[in-house]
Amino acid sequence: MEYAINIDVASPYTVYVGTFLLEETGAIARESCGGAQALVITDSTVGPLFGQPVRQSLETQGYTVHMEMVAPGESSKSGAVYLDLLEKAAELELARTDIVVALGGGVVGDLAGFLAASYMRGIPYIQVPTTLLAMVDASIGGKTAINLAAGKNLAGAFWQPRAVIADVGCLATLEDAQFADGCAEVIKHAVIADAELFGELEATPLTPGLLKSDLARAAYLIARNVDIKRAVVSADERETSLRKLLNFGHSIGHGIEAASGYELGHGRCVGVGMLAIASASVTAGVCPADVPDRIAALLRAHGLPLNVDVDTQAVYEAALHDKKRASDSIDLVVPRSIGAAAISHAPLDEFKRILEVGLACTEAYAREEKETSSPEEDAC
Ligand code: GLY
Repeated sequence: MEYAINIDVASPYTVYVGTFLLEETGAIARESCGGAQALVITDSTVGPLFGQPVRQSLETQGYTVHMEMVAPGESSKSGAVYLDLLEKAAELELARTDIVVALGGGVVGDLAGFLAASYMRGIPYIQVPTTLLAMVDASIGGKTAINLAAGKNLAGAFWQPRAVIADVGCLATLEDAQFADGCAEVIKHAVIADAELFGELEATPLTPGLLKSDLARAAYLIARNVDIKRAVVSADERETSLRKLLNFGHSIGHGIEAASGYELGHGRCVGVGMLAIASASVTAGVCPADVPDRIAALLRAHGLPLNVDVDTQAVYEAALHDKKRASDSIDLVVPRSIGAAAISHAPLDEFKRILEVGLACTEAYAREEKETSSPEEDAC
């Protein structure tokens, strides 16, 4: 079982989804990039798990392999770590024809991608995502970035990989919370573009146990999500219009993430962001009430919180630094129904009201969830 999905951007490439693909990294790199040296960027969780098969596969194809491990987590998307890696690439005398391999989750993909985008004004790279979140979203579409003190992803570039290799066998090592983080992006895709997928998730939620025991379903679902992203990115590579839809839940979600000091996982922040904006859209009369109700139920079924304990003013201030902000307004993605969404430009004062209403609604959903859970459940 294997899928090969072509991303039809200015420099097209293929996303491979299946099993035992780590072992194919070298062959895919050879065919899509060429080069003599491979600088593999990974983190100290993923490197010991998957570094060896990737190294071996690259060496078999004649690459001289260097592996750099960063600390796991958002703190590695920093200017300091990025500059260190650039210096390392220069020390190794990586040439413009050599390659970077991003082996890990969204943090590693963004960091290594930005390294590849900027070293010698751009060298080839390959994404080898190892988390659900990176497989369905972050590794595809060429967004690369690091964070600045003022906010998330504020320095970066669009730089497309030469290939993406999603080996679903890697999912078996994910912790449940990390897995749930990825589910938030799957739910996002379903809300903005695929009502049928949303229904499938309602009928059979993605549990870590289910996907670990059924890799065929994992590959199918990941490929389906890649295909949703393919359609959007192929139509709007540089996010001038349609691609903005992929930011559903992200203006508020990034604000929550920054306000929490990046303590909370990206997916759970996006989940609360989606519920907040959908709820505020109901209050504004532009979205039917069943939309946030169904989103709340699906988040819950996937082990994602409906609300997090963050200060609304801090979220607002952090969200003002978001890239989606213009001087006097911010882009928001408003669901119109399950499976369809639109972009709206909210003046900043209106955004503040939307945020307040939306976060208050997420609190109400969380309260209701607590009240309806049975005493037996509470006792457990
Ligand atoms: N993660 C949103 C995008 O790639 O546009």
